[in-house]
Amino acid sequence: MTTSFDNAAQVLTPPEPGLPYLRTNRAKELTLDPGGITVEDGVITAITPSEEANLHIDATGCALLPGLVDCHTHLPFAGWRAHEYEQKVTGLPYEEIAKAGGGIASSARALRETPDEAVLHQAREIAGEMLQNGTTTFECKSGYGLSRDGELRSLKLATELGRSVDQGTTRTALLAHAVPNGYTADTWMDEVEAMIPEASEYATALDIFVESIAFGLEHLDRMGTLAAGHNLHLRAHAEQFTTMRSVPVALRHNARSLDHLSAIHPNDIGPLGSSNTAAVLLPGAEFMGKEATAPARELIDAGAIVVLATDGNPGTSPIFSLPLIIGLGVRRYGLSTKEALLATTLNAAYVLDLAETTGSIEPGKRADLILLDSPSEHVAYRLGRDSVAATFVAGEPVYVRPDAAWRIMKR
Ligand code: NIG
Ligand code: FE
Repeated sequence: MTTSFDNAAQVLTPPEPGLPYLRTNRAKELTLDPGGITVEDGVITAITPSEEANLHIDATGCALLPGLVDCHTHLPFAGWRAHEYEQKVTGLPYEEIAKAGGGIASSARALRETPDEAVLHQAREIAGEMLQNGTTTFECKSGYGLSRDGELRSLKLATELGRSVDQGTTRTALLAHAVPNGYTADTWMDEVEAMIPEASEYATALDIFVESIAFGLEHLDRMGTLAAGHNLHLRAHAEQFTTMRSVPVALRHNARSLDHLSAIHPNDIGPLGSSNTAAVLLPGAEFMGKEATAPARELIDAGAIVVLATDGNPGTSPIFSLPLIIGLGVRRYGLSTKEALLATTLNAAYVLDLAETTGSIEPGKRADLILLDSPSEHVAYRLGRDSVAATFVAGEPVYVRPDAAWRIMKR
């Protein structure tokens, strides 16, 4: 089965094949030239179209991009927390909401009380929306389990979700998200240590929320040691509200990513920039929570691998559209289109350890692709407009906007 994508106005390609990531200060080297590509049996085989293909995609006037990779979501979860959003916008700080039993604890309650099938149903619906917004790979996290059984159930549900959606998925064990009732941060970390052998059957990374209301630097340090001991990547929710100085500790453990960074200490920007630890910025959480803006340009100047993700969760960022996140990121951080696209494709795939198979348009990679009915610059500029005409996973059209159906032609 050969598919040819013909006559695109822009095709996003990396400066060289086989890159594990591209430091964002090299984003200018990406090309957005007109052209087409050929896909055989789900894999990109040439960065030129093919006359003989069985299936032709008319990409006239379109941007052909790698499928978007959302490397930070909190799927699966149960229900929403719209009432808390209203409390927040009318003046109650997140910390207050959390201390009053809201926040993570309320989503933990909801998850506990919701049957597996209902949790999966909600998550599948969200995954469907993500497909319409061009996400071809996403990360799932536990973290609303808040007990050994709850966390393991959450990882199993995430595994089940991965089997029943069109996207590729990964699982991160966010085992230290909030300190459960009846524990101190230290005694909960003992539980975490005990559950990691089983959690590691489902997950490829460990995650921890380092914050004044959650876990401290010593717990991050311990999580780093546990990750290394179980061959898992270390990730951390770091420097979201409070400047904790997580960066030096995480870098000592060669963390795969540090996520949020809205309150990063200026002295930590240089070391993070020269490391292989990705800086995952979450403009949806910053916008919805009226948080500080992460110093993205300083991180880029320091050489950082900058990534954008939704942080999709029922509390701080109920957003699952990466095009919207690109728009927010471009505006808040002053990113160019190429920087923002790099941050949601190749560099995001690096965070999930998937850059060998997805995240860029190059021969040998899975044909995870999106077709925009506009130049790629319009994604950020026409903020909130639905520009995804079609989404392809391994060459298969898994979403086609009805008014774009004519573009797909058998020959
Ligand atoms: O990434 N910061 C901690 N965890 C989530 C929020 C989770 C929640 O409020 O439910 C986040 O923003
Ligand atoms: Fe998060």
